[in-house]
Amino acid sequence: MNFLVTGGAGFIGSAVCRHLCANPAYRVTNLDKLTYAGNLASLRQIENAHNYRFAQADICDERAVLDLLRRDDIDIVMNLAAESHVDRSIDGPGAFIETNIVGTYKILNAALEYWRGLADDRKSRFRFHHVSTDEVFGDLPFDGGMFVEETPYAPSSPYSASKAASDHLVRAWHETYGLPVVLSNCSNNYGPYHFPEKLIPLVILNALDEKPLPVYGAGANVRDWLFVEDHARALELVATKGTPGESYNVGGNSERTNLAVVETICDLLDIRRPRAGGKRYRELISFVTDRPGHDRRYAIDASKISRELGWAPSENFDSGLARTVDWFLDNKWWWGPIREQRYAGERLGEARKVGA
Ligand code: NAD
Ligand code: TYD
Repeated sequence: MNFLVTGGAGFIGSAVCRHLCANPAYRVTNLDKLTYAGNLASLRQIENAHNYRFAQADICDERAVLDLLRRDDIDIVMNLAAESHVDRSIDGPGAFIETNIVGTYKILNAALEYWRGLADDRKSRFRFHHVSTDEVFGDLPFDGGMFVEETPYAPSSPYSASKAASDHLVRAWHETYGLPVVLSNCSNNYGPYHFPEKLIPLVILNALDEKPLPVYGAGANVRDWLFVEDHARALELVATKGTPGESYNVGGNSERTNLAVVETICDLLDIRRPRAGGKRYRELISFVTDRPGHDRRYAIDASKISRELGWAPSENFDSGLARTVDWFLDNKWWWGPIREQRYAGERLGEARKVGA
């Protein structure tokens, strides 16, 4: 089976490529533009594998996508390419509109043209899997409610609005043109190779540098956290076994306040890399101005993917976070150049200024 993974040099996409390449029956083509968030170092483990290929391209380039679909006889597209950081979407929504909305439109067009030209047996096997986020459902109150697949979309940020728009386009290409699509909406991922603009890797690396650990507002916002390798397994199941036209919610059943997440990281580091003079990492926690439009809570009901596709996470939050902290302690070769050359940890998304 031949996969085209877009955004495969990013955090989740690289986990998907590493996971798929472990199966010798699969061939994987990774299409990535290599934006600030793309990093071929995340693929070192598989870069020489017989069943892995990389192509630098933009999903907005319909011709380039179509050529790759044909060249590599693709059976399944997994579309992960996106601008993914809420804070950057506040500072500059333009790139989010371009890649997440226009890019999805372009890759849908390329996939449709390719799919229409396939022989009947391959046509019925073909899938376009669009990888999305729980943030499209918007803000949940601090109660027991959870997002189900039927929850109406109510995105709050330019990022989540652009992902919501892309989900709608994918459904429309199914309803209108018959393209066999599947969708998945997942909660916050964490794990190895996570770009250190996101909360968990930022806090780990700032702590190691003895820098303040920025907690937005009072740290009371709640996210559901899923270990990235569990997400990669879920995505393989959705892409290969999901029913066309359906979407699947994916989550870790691990709701935490941001403050609890940061404190747990501090406590793990106290044991693994104690600070000089007996100081605690929690002393570095710094409450900073809240994010504009900050959704209070996300929570996922993942019973559909569990029931229909037999998926369950293998890590709980404590085991996954310990693995993640250990990975960052052991892999400075990966994050050192990023912190020096690409993003040193400065605050993003604070002001309501809009610049494309
Ligand atoms: P990421 O920012 O780490 O990686 C995105 C990748 O896409 C990068 O390698 C980048 O170079 C590439 N890319 C960006 N624009 C492109 C374009 N125009 N053409 C080709 N490649 C392009 O993102 P991530 O965290 O790995 O997220 C991957 C997908 O999963 C996104 O669609 C995101 O919305 C979704 N998602 C993320 C999370 C999360 O917690 N990170 C949760 C649920 C869903
Ligand atoms: P983030 O990792 O950016 O993911 P998302 O916004 O997609 O959920 O942020 C996770 C949570 O952590 C979110 O509620 C915002 C908060 N946060 C902080 O408190 N401090 C930070 O420095 C960052 C980056 C995020």
